Amino acid sequence: MAMVCLSDFEAYAKKYLPKIAWDFFAAGADDCDTRDENILAYKRIHFRPRMLRDVSIMDIKTKLLGTEISFPVGIAPTGFHQLAWPDGEKSTARAAKAMNTCYITSTYSTCTLEEICVAAPGGLRWFQLYIHRNRAVSQQLVQQAEALGFQGLVLTADLPYTGKRLDDVRNGFRLPPHMKLKNLDEAFEVCKMRLLDPSVTWNDIYWLQSLTHLPIIIKGILTKEDAELAVRHGVQGIIVSNHGGRQLDGVPATIDALAEVVEAAQGRVEVYLDGGIRKGSDVLKALALGAKCVFIGRPALWGLAYKGEEGLQDVLRILQDEFRLSMALAGCASISEIGRHLIQFSKL
Ligand code: FNR
Repeated sequence: MAMVCLSDFEAYAKKYLPKIAWDFFAAGADDCDTRDENILAYKRIHFRPRMLRDVSIMDIKTKLLGTEISFPVGIAPTGFHQLAWPDGEKSTARAAKAMNTCYITSTYSTCTLEEICVAAPGGLRWFQLYIHRNRAVSQQLVQQAEALGFQGLVLTADLPYTGKRLDDVRNGFRLPPHMKLKNLDEAFEVCKMRLLDPSVTWNDIYWLQSLTHLPIIIKGILTKEDAELAVRHGVQGIIVSNHGGRQLDGVPATIDALAEVVEAAQGRVEVYLDGGIRKGSDVLKALALGAKCVFIGRPALWGLAYKGEEGLQDVLRILQDEFRLSMALAGCASISEIGRHLIQFSKL
């Protein structure tokens, strides 16, 4: 089977993964309206391409909080990578390093943070945190991540409780007995969701800042009000995200929420986006609307399911090639030439 676009990897994963794993990866909350809207919304956005602009030499490199990456696509935090491939997050880390991009490692990894770092020494990684009721657990994880060389702390803000994902409820989804959430203790696995702390507030950013020197990136912001609060609380980055449509069904597609957040941030912090990125032209649209970088969730899992580290590299390489081509066809030879002028607003 020739793998030419990300949908090919999706079809492969759907065909070959056990149903319970596929359903868990694919799940959205309730009617999956937001999950689906994340993708549909890109189709409503049209370009205003410019012609005859010498795109013979293309530069698609960019920087994430000062660190150079090969192109503006990183890997969003997703849990349980061993459901997709036996080596799990170790393969993810190797692929991200090989492609010189950022891998946001989930609290819910099936490899230890140490194993992940040993698998791909020197790779750019941020650690994604869910805050636990037992704050000592979170404190220990944050400090371990910093000691291991993770370069950013991503606080996921949109999961005080887990959204209602119907297929997971129907399937009675749980990790197979041989897989463990390696960074959390046994007790956590029995009743994991009840151990997350739903009382987290903006003040907890100060608590995190007291624990670590790492830059803090807040994930799950969809409004200008929260963007302003994030800036005021001293975070360094915002990820516009609706958790891939897995939390509150009925919130807008992230690409539709992006402009509001970018406007509120006024360049004071970097703004990123995840949700529904499936093509290079989606990346171009997000950058044109003000994202500094985007992250992929499910497509990374499809790549792993196809061929582990190699499959994920294939996914990233395809997106990279598509993004470079879209940029060139729109008349941009470097990232700095991408802007709102590329988007046809009258039709939005
Ligand atoms: C997620 N997401 C997520 N987010 C997070 O902060 N911590 C996590 O552990 C997880 N786990 C997770 C598992 C699975 C299977 C999915 C699909 C998603 C959300 C993720 O980071 C991201 O926001 C979305 O996946 C982006 O949407 P796309 O790219 O999947 O459309």
